Amino acid sequence: MDLTTIKSALDNETLTGTTITVAGWVRTFRNDRFIALNDGTTIRNLQCVVDPAQVDEATRARFTTSAAVQCTGELVPSQGSGQRVELKVSAVQVLGDSDAESYPIQPKKHSLEFLREQAHLRFRTNTYSAIFRIRHQVSFGIHEYFDQQGYNYFHSPIITASDAEGAGEMFRVSTLDANSPPRHENGSVDFREDFFGREARLTVSGQLQAELGALALGKVYTFGPTFRAENSNTARHLAEFWMIEPEAAFMDLKGDMDLAEGLCKHLIARVLRNSLDDLQFLDARLKEEENSRPKEQRSELGLIDRLTFVLENPFERITYTEAIDILLRSKPHQKKQFQYPVEWGMDLQSEHERYLVEKHFKKPVIVTGYPAQIKAFYMRTNAPGDFGYSDKGKTVAAMDVLFPGIGEIIGGSQREERLDVLEARMAEMNVPTEELWWYLDTRRFGTVPHAGFGLGLERFVLFVTGMGNIRDVIPFPRTPKSAEF
Ligand code: 4AD
Ligand code: MG
Repeated sequence: MDLTTIKSALDNETLTGTTITVAGWVRTFRNDRFIALNDGTTIRNLQCVVDPAQVDEATRARFTTSAAVQCTGELVPSQGSGQRVELKVSAVQVLGDSDAESYPIQPKKHSLEFLREQAHLRFRTNTYSAIFRIRHQVSFGIHEYFDQQGYNYFHSPIITASDAEGAGEMFRVSTLDANSPPRHENGSVDFREDFFGREARLTVSGQLQAELGALALGKVYTFGPTFRAENSNTARHLAEFWMIEPEAAFMDLKGDMDLAEGLCKHLIARVLRNSLDDLQFLDARLKEEENSRPKEQRSELGLIDRLTFVLENPFERITYTEAIDILLRSKPHQKKQFQYPVEWGMDLQSEHERYLVEKHFKKPVIVTGYPAQIKAFYMRTNAPGDFGYSDKGKTVAAMDVLFPGIGEIIGGSQREERLDVLEARMAEMNVPTEELWWYLDTRRFGTVPHAGFGLGLERFVLFVTGMGNIRDVIPFPRTPKSAEF
């Protein structure tokens, strides 16, 4: 089949006046004449005009919503006002029928909750097709950015035997008979007989392996699925999500922040350039949704304005200690409106992150120098003179990037490269040094300052699409009690 995409039929002016064949799914069929056809290459439909005198009634009756149809005809300037060109159909063939009575998604507005239950078909709606085309642009842009910056795509494993990072609860990987596993004399499961000869789990992060890569290749990034078995049923958490983790030798915290900000801006610029019609659709969708909310809950900027604003302005960079001071002076703190009390040493909750970003600075914020006790063992301990050092307590060279409407989108740090400091910290935090002998070897042999971060792909896609629930930006969400499709 020599098909023309609907995107090129609509955009490529040299095709006007030629005969082309297109194929796609029927969005609507009206006046017994006009098929709005969509093939997924663009959010826009091609109007295919059939002549009822040439196409028999039985065939016309099959142009139901979501039927697959192929049309051949001349692409001509449109008679109607909605589009530049339309297809004057000379031959039409139904490739796959779609029973109008039982097809679950009607050409009307459905709730996102309903569409989540129809996840296998929801890609055929404007909203979801726009989201997943943008998700592609973001994914491709990530590879593009790191390639341009000299990073090597490094494949960290999905199955891991170490449970040491402490990033979250892990899923077990096992081939043992779940009903009667081999047991030690004391009754506990004997994993020596399991597939890997030991307990294995799905990874929560590829960082520790990426560090090994960076300390030889210089610059690497991972980009793969990540699993966390935490029971958080929120609009920001998935049990399976995609994470991008760059890691670079000879890079300090400032370089890490610059890399993170550069990545975010590169991706936003790419989406604005390549997905403008999808963004315009989502922008209008968001406005409509917000109009049904009370005024004070509406955002000041529309989606495209928000993206342009983030692209054109430097991110605010503050220390954790400064963040706490701002929160202590804030109205919601003084009026006791925060759910969690504010004090130096606590982890920032998403209400605090969103206050800083949405109310105080009104732009993305990078927070550095968090208290050591709330951050992972591998983060570099600050000394007097280091950025983010505080005399209120021990801090580490962590950095979290906070985005409007989302909160934390990136978490990263400069790593502890000093073996003695790292070992002491691991002992303090009960991280088993024997299990991580291979990680510690990098600090024994040719250790250097290095840094990296993790970007949650879905959180970023939430931001660029203006969607509110993370389940709507991954094709098949995995969340507690839900893995249907
Ligand atoms: O802050 P996190 O836990 O950091 C790490 O895993 C480090 N190893 C990263 C590094 O330094 N290489 O996770 C990083 C990001 C978060 O900022 C968030 O965007 C996303 O991953 N994330 C989730 N996204 C969806 N669902 C979840 N359950 C997530 N947990 C983290
Ligand atoms: Mg984090």
